[in-house]
Amino acid sequence: MQAWLCENPVGVDALSWKELPTPEPGAGEVLIEIQAASLNFPDLLIVQNKYQMKPPLPFVPGSEYAGVVRAVGEGVTHLQVGQNVACLSGTGGFSTHTLAPAGLCMPLPPGFPPVDAAAFIMIYATSQHALVDRAQLKAGETVLVLGAAGGVGTAAIQLAKAAGARVIAAASSDDKCALCRQLGADETINYSVHTPQTTLRDEIKRLTGGKGPDVIYDPVGGDFAEPAFRSIAWRGRYLVVGFASGPIPSLPLNLSLLKGASIVGVFWGDFAKREPKANAQMMQTLATMYMKGQIKPVIDQTLPMKDLPKAYAIMGSRSVKGKLVLVN
Ligand SMILES: NC(=O)c1ccc[n+]([C@@H]2O[C@H](COP(=O)([O-])OP(=O)(O)OC[C@H]3O[C@@H](n4cnc5c(N)ncnc54)[C@H](OP(=O)(O)O)[C@@H]3O)[C@@H](O)[C@H]2O)c1
Repeated sequence: MQAWLCENPVGVDALSWKELPTPEPGAGEVLIEIQAASLNFPDLLIVQNKYQMKPPLPFVPGSEYAGVVRAVGEGVTHLQVGQNVACLSGTGGFSTHTLAPAGLCMPLPPGFPPVDAAAFIMIYATSQHALVDRAQLKAGETVLVLGAAGGVGTAAIQLAKAAGARVIAAASSDDKCALCRQLGADETINYSVHTPQTTLRDEIKRLTGGKGPDVIYDPVGGDFAEPAFRSIAWRGRYLVVGFASGPIPSLPLNLSLLKGASIVGVFWGDFAKREPKANAQMMQTLATMYMKGQIKPVIDQTLPMKDLPKAYAIMGSRSVKGKLVLVN
């Protein structure tokens, strides 16, 4: 097998593509031949030693991938050799083969291509858990999605529309806004032409007839969080999903009081660990929605696995729409 190895977690430049012995699965594990792996934000942090999970060295990065089961370890009963699976195990994906805990593998129905499967679990699970479970989104409500052309943002647009909501998508370019409209967004805001404190609020007010969004989905953080929260509707729910822009914003708590609004934390990874049955049920629902054509990952581009450093550079440029996927 071959893999991108991280022997010294000081950044992407220190990764090397190496020939390694193909491992045998231990108890509860499977060996997966990887067909595709997607890039997620933690994949960058982990090779810089900046992620909360710090795997023992050396390790192979690549949190999310899809492929074919080539061998099963002792005690694995629900997966068979030859089965197509998607997996989000945190590491191992930027390679030709990896061992994965069988319990983390999602068996794929026929007709689920590996490129879509490799870009599926993280974005849809996060956005469904956020909108449906945490925010209790109802049909007819209005959702404002920030960073709407990114990975979780594109999933949030599709899932909010599937739930019968009206979607206002906010992103940093006209190109990104056009993609959001193609995905079903009813309205878009290009926030690069607004200053945080004034016009973003005016635009949200205009598009909601002064009422404000019932739900705000925020994977970006930074300067737009407070003006967005100031615009929220009575009984609104502000979903704290991530901080892609860097700074972690602080929100004055009196705003929550004045709007009867909730600040709702979203941590899908811990939800999956703490409430595995509810998560498994949600994943089943999402797979069914995919097979019915209700949701489909937006793939910005696919690159050969050997082009991982190039993929990291593209990811850092803030130009990606949806997801980047590496293929073997
Ligand atoms: N809470 C959870 O359970 C959970 C799960 C998955 C991901 N997350 C987090 O959610 C965030 C988004 O993840 P993602 O996979 O959607 O990432 P992504 O595809 O890179 O999208 C992030 C979006 O953030 C916006 N952005 C604003 N300032 C940026 C900057 N300085 N650099 C890069 N992007 C910037 C960009 O949109 P514009 O250019 O349009 O502003 C970009 O499209 C990350 O922080 C991730 O860690 C949280």
